[in-house]
Amino acid sequence: MSFPQFTSAENLTFSANLQEDVDRFSELTTAFLGFRKDIGSLLKQLLQDAPEMPMALCVKGYIAKMIVSASHSARAIGISQKLEAVITIHGVNDRERLHAKALDEWCKGELVRATECWEKILVDYPLDSLALRLAHYLHFYSGNAGNMRDSVARVLSSWSESQPNYGFVVGMYAFGLEESGEYDTAEIYGRKAVERNPADTWSVHAVAHVMEMTGRRAEGISWVNSLSDNWLSVNNFRYHLYWHLALFYLENGDTETVLQLYDTQVGSDITADFNLDMCNAASLLWRLEMYGVNVGERWQGLIETAENHITDHELVFVSLHYYLALLAANENRSSDRLYNSLKSWAAGTDTQSYVCMEVGMGLAKGIQLARSKKFAAAIEAINKCKKDMALIGGSHAQRNLFELVLADSGKKLGY
Ligand SMILES: [Fe+2]
Repeated sequence: MSFPQFTSAENLTFSANLQEDVDRFSELTTAFLGFRKDIGSLLKQLLQDAPEMPMALCVKGYIAKMIVSASHSARAIGISQKLEAVITIHGVNDRERLHAKALDEWCKGELVRATECWEKILVDYPLDSLALRLAHYLHFYSGNAGNMRDSVARVLSSWSESQPNYGFVVGMYAFGLEESGEYDTAEIYGRKAVERNPADTWSVHAVAHVMEMTGRRAEGISWVNSLSDNWLSVNNFRYHLYWHLALFYLENGDTETVLQLYDTQVGSDITADFNLDMCNAASLLWRLEMYGVNVGERWQGLIETAENHITDHELVFVSLHYYLALLAANENRSSDRLYNSLKSWAAGTDTQSYVCMEVGMGLAKGIQLARSKKFAAAIEAINKCKKDMALIGGSHAQRNLFELVLADSGKKLGY
């Protein structure tokens, strides 16, 4: 028997048993766009009451993939299979069918194909903010700033201020513009979104990036500090804002404040195993050391979490940060295991295997050599893959770490 169809606040049709389930799904989508702490509880409650609602299952799979770990990816495969079974029995509408296909492709490691599914959805359903955010996410991890910008630009005219998630869409556009180097326009859109909702951390983040890229450190510090009281409902993504705040202080030479921010914010919840926390923490500590700062025992606090991800083959960008932590903590056995895991990953055939082969291995080798003070060899390794570095994804500001390793190696050699 097929599901009845209900319409959401965004005028999208959902297969579900009750209108109430669709309304709750809309609330879940808003929480997802806002990086809210209650995403997990909203989803759990929805699935308790509507265990076969196709889009609720699909989002469960998406979230599992976004945790970026082998164990959660294994769960995502199980969820995707359950979703396929539900679809076989009850059927779904065309948009939901494409979402299910996106999850399946993502589970297979076919990130480009998954993104194509969301972009296909957006052609006919430009108000599908979930598809938009997921496309944004994987455009981000493919390092294609133009796609990040244009994906949102294509749908923007279909949105209006009266729609609840409008601000999040504007904020995504701001970030895509920023990564594309269109700083002035990015700031206009970013500020517009933050005026609408100061708890919209992705939009706050877009403006912080503009300030980082244009060297406006004092403004960046007051921008982040002036908004941080609004983030009580935001999940660990808020620590990434503090990472940006720390970068402003670091570039100002105020390393004391950076260490304080590391202890109280950036590195304060590593055991929660939120992958971005590790990226923030490892890259900040490495930068501090390049500034000549003794970071004490702080690397040791990253070991256990990093060791839990040695054999993950999810996102090269994230794995490189686990590698940074294990190298710097002198966990040689573990760092060797991770390096070997990268090697076997690079021999695979999916999207990130290619990235690992083209860029990941070179960057891993480069940071390993820099850590061993083999600076000339480090420069050679990083230079070999530098032109394709964007492939690992992340932002310009995040990838800048590898450029800094290159510059620091040159400095150590007296260049
Ligand atoms: Fe950022």
